[in-house]
Amino acid sequence: MKSSVLRLSLLVFVPLLLSLFFLVFMPKDAAMKSYEVFGVKIEKNPPQSKLTQLGVATWSKWEGGPTKIPWSFKEEETMYLLEGKVRVTVEGSVGSFEIGAGDLVVFPKGMNITWEVIEAVKKHYNLKK
Ligand SMILES: *[C@@H]1O[C@H](CO)[C@@H](O)[C@H](O)[C@H]1NC(C)=O
Repeated sequence: MKSSVLRLSLLVFVPLLLSLFFLVFMPKDAAMKSYEVFGVKIEKNPPQSKLTQLGVATWSKWEGGPTKIPWSFKEEETMYLLEGKVRVTVEGSVGSFEIGAGDLVVFPKGMNITWEVIEAVKKHYNLKK
């Protein structure tokens, strides 16, 4: 009897303690720095060293004011937003998400979206051939 109570409390408390430990000691901004929504990869404020390594400054540039257009990615596209804010709705999915200044974003080849510029955008982009 006593040992089963002990086993049960271990089953409950050990995972609880581990999750608390994880929450307390996990680096705060590593948590939501990179994530994926509807197959789109987003990295918030990547370090300058990564942007340099990718050669972002040498990529093509695109600028655009408020608009709402359907867009189809013929190739995988990686973009880095210097300014602005865009609401992206992936075709066939419920809901949308926003990307903006400081985000490094990868759209997979063949994806169809609605690209709604909320605040004028300046971006660098690179197509994977
Ligand atoms: C995206 O749109 C194109 C043409 O507009 C279509 O041929 C293609 O099947 C669509 N892709 C997806 C994943 O829905």
